[in-house]
Amino acid sequence: MGDSTSASGTGGFGEILVSSRSLDEYRAMFALSEQDLRRRILDCPGSAAGFTAEVCARGGDVTACDVAYFGDGSAKVAATAVAEAERGNDFVRAHAQDYRWEFFADPDAHRRARSESARQFAAHSGSHPQRYVPGRLPQLPFADNSVDLVLSSHLLFCYADDLDPEFHRRAIIELLRIGTELRVFPLVPIGSRTPYQRLRALISELADDGVDCRVVDVDYEFQVGAAQMLMCRRARESATRS
Ligand SMILES: C[S@@+](CC[C@H](N)C(=O)[O-])C[C@H]1O[C@@H](n2cnc3c(N)ncnc32)[C@H](O)[C@@H]1O
Repeated sequence: MGDSTSASGTGGFGEILVSSRSLDEYRAMFALSEQDLRRRILDCPGSAAGFTAEVCARGGDVTACDVAYFGDGSAKVAATAVAEAERGNDFVRAHAQDYRWEFFADPDAHRRARSESARQFAAHSGSHPQRYVPGRLPQLPFADNSVDLVLSSHLLFCYADDLDPEFHRRAIIELLRIGTELRVFPLVPIGSRTPYQRLRALISELADDGVDCRVVDVDYEFQVGAAQMLMCRRARESATRS
């Protein structure tokens, strides 16, 4: 189980969770530079993360997309985001041995950071609803090449029992249709300490699809064993057009 606990109501995918990570967490998870933060960014799934709000407040250009925004947009997610961040914190507290307490000094620091991110999400999604677009992987409502960088955290690889290999392949190709570069974090399923079992096979299948993938160490480990991201780029222009 991950470090948050609310179901997003995604239907066939079982219980996939809503969570609120901050710009600081995204920066660390995805090794984002200042230059990266000036690129056009798509965050999918955006969930109740504060990342979009924080980067837009600095003058950046981020759009979040999530299946949970269907219905009444992000309002439903916003209404429960702080409570869910606190519920997520209860889970982390109860399973403290499964986490490294470095990025967050302790469960109280985790609670403060996630609750603050949830608040930022709620405020920004209310004032800038156009930045929060409903969409369901593996097919999203964005034009080809409409952003420079796509970030995807805590969906792919996390739910290995619910999301099959073909879903992973199609989702990565779709995200790279929209952006020229994709970063995915983490590579370790929820409840595990080792990378997604089919990672090597998937990388090789993606190479056949014209996608170059690289596993990159990052300076962030909260879930024990999860300290790498996948960086993907189109190796040839036809890669995402089939
Ligand atoms: C654990 S959250 C991660 C969110 C955020 N990136 C973060 O790290 O805080 C997982 C999110 O995936 C969304 N989700 C699940 N299936 C999806 C799909 N097929 N397409 C888009 N979003 C999906 C859920 O609604 C949920 O908000």
